[in-house]
Amino acid sequence: MAFTFKDFPAARDDLRSDVLSGLAACPKSIPPKYFYDEAGCRLFEAICAQPEYTLTRTEGALLASSLPDIAAAIGPVDCIVEPGAGECAKVRLLLEALHPAHLVVLDIAGAPLAAAAEGLSRAHPELAVTALGMDFIHDLEAADPYLPAGRRLVYYPGSSIGNFPPGAAVDLLARFRQLAGPAGQLLIGFDLKKDPLRLHRAYNDAAGITAAFNLNLLDRLNRDLGANFNPTCFRHYAFYNPTAGRIEMHLVSLAEQDVTVCGQQFHFALGETLHTENSYKFRRDEFSAIANAAGWQLAAAWEQDGFAIQLHRQSTTGDHPPEPC
Ligand code: TRP
Repeated sequence: MAFTFKDFPAARDDLRSDVLSGLAACPKSIPPKYFYDEAGCRLFEAICAQPEYTLTRTEGALLASSLPDIAAAIGPVDCIVEPGAGECAKVRLLLEALHPAHLVVLDIAGAPLAAAAEGLSRAHPELAVTALGMDFIHDLEAADPYLPAGRRLVYYPGSSIGNFPPGAAVDLLARFRQLAGPAGQLLIGFDLKKDPLRLHRAYNDAAGITAAFNLNLLDRLNRDLGANFNPTCFRHYAFYNPTAGRIEMHLVSLAEQDVTVCGQQFHFALGETLHTENSYKFRRDEFSAIANAAGWQLAAAWEQDGFAIQLHRQSTTGDHPPEPC
């Protein structure tokens, strides 16, 4: 059993400056990566099990039912790389179908990742598992020494790509070309545009788990930055914005109030928003435009109930941006 865990805490330590500059901006916002403290990770897993949030179950069912076809399209693979792997639950099916020698998982939440990856390593004694606790959005180069040579598949499920604005999504997918290597492939899952009411319900579950997840960000800032947010003075507010093609998640101030963070005071007007996340939904052509701009080309696609899984290969046309250095 080969298991390696490496934590890169330095790549995550910008909480303070990111939050202070986000609160000083207009409109106020906080990067969504800061949702994922320990409680945030647990709440996120609970969101995925809510009846209204079908995305995770649909993706799992589609992957399971199309697995032989997906594995045939991918062909032989030496290494699977999964950025944002979290609980490492989704990659299990792929491991059984593709039998790679290596698995490299990355996540900003290092400790839960390490625990999950070690469990995987125990279940697959023949597999070399490497877990990297890092903010892969900024620090992808740090992963380079841990990537084995050979045919690599980057796996990016869960419509996480939708949590980036289109320009940043292109940048991230271009960086994934580096993770995949010259002959590498990308297997990506994303949510398609659909009935806005259905989308609305998915981010407003009746049990209030998404609301708790959103509000947990304030608890985290209170704990980790000594802030004094009163979460009962903010409302979780999520809706589908059809003009922008995205779910927007906000925390709306229910009162005029002042909050102190790291000794600095911030004023919230009544009804002012703290924008916490976007979740873009795509049409096929919109996603292709993003993937192509990042140097990827669609090789195969599977769809079920408004969700897409696509396999991409590196473009050979040469009209894509150079790999970021
Ligand atoms: N990327 C998925 C989505 O946008 C999962 C997710 C990320 C999510 N942040 C979330 C789901 C916040 C609900 C709430 O749907």
